[in-house]
Amino acid sequence: MAEKRSSFTGKIGFVLAAAGSAVGLGNIWRFPYLAAKYGGGIFLLVYLVLAVTFGFALMCAEIAIGRKTGQSAINAFKSLDKRFGFIGVIAAIIPALILPYYSVIGGWVTKYLYAFVSGDATASASDTYFTGFIAKPFEPIGWFMIFMGLTALVVLFGVEKGVEKVSKIMMPVLVVLTLVIAVYSMTVDGAMAGVKYYLMTDFSRFSATTVLAAMGQLFYSMSLAMGIMITYGSYMKKDVSIEKSVRQIEIFDTGIAFLAGMMIIPAVFAFSNGDEAALGKGPSLMFITLPKVFNSMPGGAFIGATFFLLVLFAALTSSISLMETVVSIVRDKFGWGRKISCLAVFIFCVVLGIPSSLGFGVWDFVTVAGLSILDMFDFVSNSVLMPIVAFLTCIFIGYVIKPKALIEEIEIGVPFKAKTLFTVIIKYVAPVCIILILLSSVLDVLGVMKI
Ligand code: PFF
Repeated sequence: MAEKRSSFTGKIGFVLAAAGSAVGLGNIWRFPYLAAKYGGGIFLLVYLVLAVTFGFALMCAEIAIGRKTGQSAINAFKSLDKRFGFIGVIAAIIPALILPYYSVIGGWVTKYLYAFVSGDATASASDTYFTGFIAKPFEPIGWFMIFMGLTALVVLFGVEKGVEKVSKIMMPVLVVLTLVIAVYSMTVDGAMAGVKYYLMTDFSRFSATTVLAAMGQLFYSMSLAMGIMITYGSYMKKDVSIEKSVRQIEIFDTGIAFLAGMMIIPAVFAFSNGDEAALGKGPSLMFITLPKVFNSMPGGAFIGATFFLLVLFAALTSSISLMETVVSIVRDKFGWGRKISCLAVFIFCVVLGIPSSLGFGVWDFVTVAGLSILDMFDFVSNSVLMPIVAFLTCIFIGYVIKPKALIEEIEIGVPFKAKTLFTVIIKYVAPVCIILILLSSVLDVLGVMKI
């Protein structure tokens, strides 16, 4: 039975819903470790430049495609031009690759919440707590299943609205708490070197991999290049300004990522006595550094528990939007009911998520080009598939349907101030840059050449 397409109520409804999908582990867990790894200030600068150019243009474009066609990704591209439906199909694969490993990290957050609530706060600040935990064969899988199960229950019972309501209160609290922790972090002895590293641009650290990592992070963080914003756009009312909404989502999303970096990077310096090697910890960085910060804070156990609860909510609103997308694709493709589709997606995620989890322990010998299994899923989706989808989307808009088709949609009822910027980026800058960066970084990871 065809369901009526619902739409977001009010102007702020759209922004909050899109921000709920955008703000998640990408901001709090992924952004800081990438910034730490790729040279601090230089990564931050590249990210900001990309956000106000590529990110802005692509998000406007995706939302406009959705609102214009009233369809989700696969059908939206098809309905604009039959030959290009395949872009939507590639885009649709991405959330299915992200959801399993996203839930593994979500499981780690759940475990830390439990640890802080059950009085393990001090133990969690020890150097080996995290590595010991993720190396275990069963426990992380258990937490992963709990997180995945919570996500699946919400999607199954269609209670996203309830979660959204709660997170509308949680999000502002998260911002305030992140700010408090960031300020505290900066005052710890030795933290200033980290603040410098994060805020000062060292151009000698610039490389194609930095740009690719920043670009992949941008797409990931803003939920771009995977069809999500097209779907959100299809629910958007015609009288809401696309340009203004995108600006607001961007400020919110980038602001939280920036603060998360401020909270974690100075602390890495402070607690490692300035040892730069500590910056390269990758996916584990947040889980190793933050417990140390909480442990040194007055009332740290309570603050830590509150923090992980808030992060859990931010992660859930994102994983729910990922799972919703995958479930709706499965329903459309196979014509299955909601329950069966949810179950199928759940099983699929468990099958794909377990190797990601085991990759830090019993399967740590499985690496591809030096990447662990989880990192590999992350690399393929964020650094390979998303740039490809973004490239194809730009070509499709720039040369097939033409930017004018979307500008008209964006201009309904309001002027589109950044019209020229939009056209230049979509037609020329983005496609050329994306291809160059993609090629050079894939060659880099394969060890063919270093740029
Ligand atoms: N943008 C989310 C984050 O930064 O955590 C990740 C994400 C959520 C990507 C939902 C895609 C998505 F559909």
